[in-house]
Amino acid sequence: MKTIKLAVIPGDGIGHEVVPGALGILERLGEIHGGLKFEFEHFDYGCDHYLQHGDMMAPDGLERLSQNDAVFLGAVGDANKVPDHISLWGLLIKIRREFQQEINVRPAKVFEGIRSPLANPKDFDLMVVRENSEGEYSSVGGRMFHEEHEIAIQSSVFSKRATSQAMHYAFDLAASRGKMVTSATKSNGIYHAMPFWDDVFKEISSDYPDVSTTSEHIDALSASFVTRPERYDVIVASNLFGDILTDIGAAIMGSIGIAPSANLNLNGKYPSMFEPVHGSAPDIVGKGIANPVGQIWTAKMMLDHFGYTELGSKLLQAIEDTFREGIMTSDIGGSASTHEVTTSILDKLQ
Ligand code: NAD
Ligand code: IPM
Ligand code: MN
Repeated sequence: MKTIKLAVIPGDGIGHEVVPGALGILERLGEIHGGLKFEFEHFDYGCDHYLQHGDMMAPDGLERLSQNDAVFLGAVGDANKVPDHISLWGLLIKIRREFQQEINVRPAKVFEGIRSPLANPKDFDLMVVRENSEGEYSSVGGRMFHEEHEIAIQSSVFSKRATSQAMHYAFDLAASRGKMVTSATKSNGIYHAMPFWDDVFKEISSDYPDVSTTSEHIDALSASFVTRPERYDVIVASNLFGDILTDIGAAIMGSIGIAPSANLNLNGKYPSMFEPVHGSAPDIVGKGIANPVGQIWTAKMMLDHFGYTELGSKLLQAIEDTFREGIMTSDIGGSASTHEVTTSILDKLQ
């Protein structure tokens, strides 16, 4: 019997509404497999923890999390309690950085039967590979002077190591799929970092003669994600561009509530972390209508990561069948509750 130890952090807001159902689904899949068991260690880290203890996680938090095989996270953030940059840098971004989760993978694909803002979406199936540790997300800079003289300086950091690592990851992924990588750039406006990004992209691409490449400015690429998403296979993007692009990817699927993501540690020193693309959704918290599919599809990404791809496929099939039967939450045109969607997916697993 193989046991996967999971550190579970529901976090804030709807994290508490979507995580428990996904854990039940993982347990069911373990039973179906017969040789796989999950052991959950629950952590109450989040904004309430901050209000009680003055920190988003306990002092030995990272140490305890690291004793697990993966982190399974809901969402973090409750700006009524803690300013967002404090809560996110104290938990989500801290884990990504300390556990060297330098790659963030986020798929977007067409699903049958759900409401999408695209009138007639063609059959798209793409993957965004987001550099997850540096770029525009940096603490380098500061605020100084006062009143009308106040200035804020925020530096971006692009290392050759992390940039080329993200690009290698994207090319390797494309080599196993549609054999095309698009680089999200902005070298017409960002004077230093993006010409550097383009140079590294060119250099890495020469190692992959079988993979075709395009380079598109992030503004045009964002528009094209909406008008012609079927053109893309793998997109490699900096931390901020990847963040924005993957909310667009989620939206064209139908809703930010269904998109999953994997924060991958590639050197094997720390656990990877799996979390949906969406946040804590304070506007719908407590209503029982949060779409649980982002969290559940995230569980599929985690199963794939651990090599249980057959279980992962079963789970994706159950999601697709549930949509096809019209069982869905209101964000994608249905009237089902979080619980009803979760139960439908669970019942389809055998
Ligand atoms: P959000 O994703 O929480 O919400 C944006 C919109 O999408 C809202 O209208 C919300 O109701 C809707 N939505 C999100 N998830 C949904 C779901 N599963 N089902 C149905 N509708 C859903 O983004 P935001 O409003 O910008 O952020 C709210 C808080 O979450 C902030 O504190 C933010 O910093 C945080 N956040 C955390 C993460 C994370 O932990 N990974 C990601 C994004 C935002
Ligand atoms: C995401 C989120 C985070 C990010 C925020 C909450 C810091 O938007 O995971 O997409 O920007 O990475
Ligand atoms: Mn985001």
